[in-house]
Parts: sequence; C-alpha cells; structure tokens
Amino acid sequence: MKYQVSGNTEGVRDAVLARLDSLYSYELEEGEFLPRELMKILAEISCALNREIAVYITRDGEIVNVAVGTDSDVELVDYRLRRNEMRLSYVRCVHTHPDGDGHLSDVDLSALRIFRYDAMTAVGVKNGEPTIVQTAFLGENAEVLLPEAARWYRLPDAEWLEQIEASDALVGRENTRAVASDRERAVLMGIDTRESLEELRRLAETAGAEVVGAFLQKRDKPDSAMFIGRGRAEELARDCQALEADICIFDDEMTGIQARNLEEVLRVKVVDRTALILDIFAQRAASAEGKLQVELAQLQYRSARLIGQGLVLSRLAGGIGTRGPGESKLEMSRRRIRERMTELRRRLDELEKQRSIRRRSRERNETPVVALVGYTNAGKSTLLNALTGADVYVQDQLFATLDAVSRRMETPEKTEYLLTDTVGFIRKLPHALISAFRSTLEEAALADVLVIVSDGSSPDMLRQHDTVEQVLEELGATESKRIEAINKCDAALPDPAFPGAVLISAKTGEGLDELRAAIAAALQEFYQPVDFSIPFSRYGILSEIRSMGRVITETYTDEGTEVTAMMAPADVEKLVRKYTASILKEPPEPVQ
Ligand code: GTP
Repeated sequence: MKYQVSGNTEGVRDAVLARLDSLYSYELEEGEFLPRELMKILAEISCALNREIAVYITRDGEIVNVAVGTDSDVELVDYRLRRNEMRLSYVRCVHTHPDGDGHLSDVDLSALRIFRYDAMTAVGVKNGEPTIVQTAFLGENAEVLLPEAARWYRLPDAEWLEQIEASDALVGRENTRAVASDRERAVLMGIDTRESLEELRRLAETAGAEVVGAFLQKRDKPDSAMFIGRGRAEELARDCQALEADICIFDDEMTGIQARNLEEVLRVKVVDRTALILDIFAQRAASAEGKLQVELAQLQYRSARLIGQGLVLSRLAGGIGTRGPGESKLEMSRRRIRERMTELRRRLDELEKQRSIRRRSRERNETPVVALVGYTNAGKSTLLNALTGADVYVQDQLFATLDAVSRRMETPEKTEYLLTDTVGFIRKLPHALISAFRSTLEEAALADVLVIVSDGSSPDMLRQHDTVEQVLEELGATESKRIEAINKCDAALPDPAFPGAVLISAKTGEGLDELRAAIAAALQEFYQPVDFSIPFSRYGILSEIRSMGRVITETYTDEGTEVTAMMAPADVEKLVRKYTASILKEPPEPVQ
C-alpha cells in the first residue's frame, strides 16, 4: 500500500517528502510511547521546513498518517468514526512546534477533546533538535489531564501508555452518562460596531444558540472573497476549534461565495445576520400569512445564493438548526424554487386582497388606527397589554411578536380607535423581509397615529430610533402623526432626547395616562365636535350621522333635532356636499 504525506506539502522538496513518506513504515517497539529517533527526524524536518509536522500513531505502534502544516498549525485528522463512539480514537497525535515551545496550546487541547485522540503530544523544536515534550490525556467528563512537560530524552513512556488505557476506560464511563446539549455553540464575528455585535448575540440566543465567543474586526469594507480576509479567517478557524464551535455567525449579509469560502476555511457552518433573522422569523411566524411571508423571504435569500444553473442549494444558506423551509427545501432546484415563490406570492396576494377589504371596511367606519412601532424589544407588546389589558405574548427576546395584533380602544371622550402592535424593527433588517412583510408593516405605514416606542434603558436608544425612522421612511409612513414614547423609565432615567416625548413604563404603568391623553389629543384632529340642526322633514340624515360619527348630545326642538357628534372632517364635507351647509348649526371649523 502506498502512503502519501498529507497537508501543506507545497514547495517541499521530493527528498524531504520521500523521507517523510518513509515514516509510514516506521514501527514502534512495544512499550514505546515516542522513540527518540522518531522525535529527532521530526525535529530536523520541521526545522528545515519551518512547518509543523504531525504523525498519528495507533495503540499498536503503527504510524497511520504523516502531515505537514504551516509554521503555527497543522490540520488535525479525525479518527473517531473508526471506533465505537464511546471510546478513544485508538490513535494519538504527535506534532512539532517549530517555535521551540513544547507546551500544548488551547487549540491542541480542544482538538484532543473533539477528536478523542488517545493522547495529544507536542514536541518543541529548536535548532533542528527536540526540546521539551508535553502530552495531554482525556479524563472523565471530557476533562483534560495535563501532566508536566518532560525533557525529550526522559519521556515517561510506560506511564503515558498506561494513562491511555486508563483514559479509555474513563471516557467510556463518562459517555454513558453524558447528556448531549442540543444547543449549537456559536462564535460571532463582526466588522461593524460593538453594539451591533451585542445585538447579534441577542439574536443568536433568541434563535436558540449558545454563544461561546465573539470577535470584532474593524474593517471599512468586507473582503470580497473571504469577508474578513484570509489571514483573519485562518485565525478564526483556530478560535472556532478552540471554542468547539458548531457554527460561526457573521454580523453582516454576505454573498454565497464569501460564505462558501469561509465555510471551507472555518470548517464549521457559516451563517450571516440575514439568515439568522430569517431563521428567527421562521420560528416565530404563527399566522398562515406570516408563515408564507417568511418562506418567501427565505427562498428569495437562498435563490440569490444559488451558484450555477440547476445546482442544488448549498447548505450555507441554512440557519441555526434545521428550520423554516428547512433541509428538505435545500435540495430544491432553481426551477422548483421559482415555482414555489410564484405560488407563495399568489397566495399572499389573495390574503392581501382580503386584508385590503377589511381595511376598506374599517376606513368606511372611519375608525382611526394608532400603531405602536419601535425597535425590537422596546416593549411594544408590554405596552399594548398595559393599555388594553389584552394578553399579548411578551418575552425578553427579539421579535417575540411577528403578527400585527389589533385591539379596539376608546379615548376618555369616547372616540374609538384601533391600537395595533407591529413587528419590531431592527438594524440591517433583511430586504427580503421588508418586501415579504410589506403588507404587515403597512399596518404601521397606514396608521393615522404612530406611537414610536423607544427603549429608554438601552444605551443605543438614539441609533435604534434612527433605524425605526429609516424603516418608516422606506415604507412611506411619513404622513402619520407621531407621538414619541420613551419606555422602561422604571429601569433607567432616560434622556428625554426627543422634544415632547412622553416618559413611560409599560411595566409599572407610569406615564400611561399621559400617553393616553397624547393619543386622544392626536385623535382629536381626526374627530371634531360638529353641531347639526336637522329638520323633521329630513329625518333620514340622522341615521347617516350616527353611522359616521359618535353622537354626544341629541335635543329635540320645534323645528327638528339638534345633534352634536364627533365627526371626521372628511365625513362632514361629504354630508354638506350631499345636503348643503343648511344642515349645520354653525359652519364647520377649518380642517387642520
Ligand atoms: P418585539 O416583539 O421584539 O418587537 O418586542 P416588543 O417591543 O414587543 O417588546 P416586549 O413587549 O416583548 O418587551 C421586551 C422586554 O422588555 C420584556 O422582557 C419586557 O418585560 C421588558 N419591558 C417592557 N416594558 C418594560 C418597562 O417599562 N420596564 C422594564 N423594566 N422592562 C420592560
């Protein structure tokens, strides 16, 4: 059988390769952990190449793999599948450290845990000679046992070989008790700001991942091939290995190529912020419409990342776990995706038609709409509950609510209105989502009054507020009257950053009366008291007035009925056009 040296052999002379190749026929004597002769050969070649060299030795003393790495790294080989999952891999990894230091690194130790090697050994190399050698073993509960490093010519071979047998028994025991955690271990990588990265952490946790590390690289613009550049990606790969990550989440949207390149280097699943948000939406969508919208957004995102006609979808586009359109859809061809998207759009259009019928009928009744809008987690649902006594899902999580929830309300003056809670806004809200959720978000855009809820306890409040403004602008919601409400003032003393802002706490009820009054005042602009004088002969007009507005007083005189009703100026105009201004006791106040 012909063996081949693996790894980074580029530029290595044939003579050296042949020498490394000959190691495959090297056999260790019984009782030998690591012969001095072998160490000397490894040290010499490692020094000459200035690269790490790894050899993998079975418990029978056979060398099964020889690999060349870089000056600081060598690709580690996974032998676990060769054996029972509950035992060690039967193979130990011995590798050189050409910088002279024979101590094991964190990356080495985590590789020991991940690959369940019999042992992990580092041989320090200086001036072509071995220096000190350190070996680690696994104990119970994946604990690492790390005896003192030894001089290369005084290795406790027998002791170390015995430890391998002892570890094998311990690991087997531990595995029968191990409780597997199904939360994915995520490493976060940002190139933007610390706040944005912090938000990514909350998003990742909301999606169900366990964040085990977060890194920020200040960069003006992403690298087109590798997003963070090759050098940083290689460093990140080591971090991911040391932290035993399953997934690496990037704080910005990337191209399919970037994600694929990164996945190759990192050797863990790679997901971007957009995919993560889509994933959360997929988990949260409750209504039929919400589900269709999320699926459409996910397919849009994925189809943009398909490389080459007719190729199956790369699994790069997947989120945490297997949700949303999920694994089954990953196999879809471009054509199937197009068909599915057309179908989804058609069904959404139908739902949208029904929605606009509902909306029109609401318009006919002239019930004004007050929408709560704001950054995700600002406390909109809590506020809706506090104002209405309704029971809306509240969670200290991002995007707890996806579907718009409306409640019928009344001001103290008995003006009716609809109070609507909308989906939370967020920085870098994926475009696919904005378009898919347009109809839901339009609830906000079409509202007569917008209550912009800000989280006064967040140090990032102003920037979150800017994002809300941007999304509103994108939706064309620039006409509505606005009320600024700064929430959570029980938790922090918020800076009254916006003129006329109402300070509230949805939790304690503080400031809610003031907010109700502000809403009522804003609604007054839609409803004004109008006095009518309707002669008996035109009695029918009374029922029209009653259907259009809310009657406050009704008195009967000799000529007919005098009515004061709260009316929208547009309705008054309509009546005057139909029956002339003679029905009015006084001319209507000018429209503001
Ligand atoms: P999305 O669904 O993501 O848009 O969130 P939301 O804006 O609807 O926020 P939600 O009402 O779910 O509240 C988010 C968190 O903030 C919850 O843990 C609430 O308990 C908390 N919260 C809401 N209002 C207040 C408040 O006035 N004071 C304090 N201290 N916490 C609050």
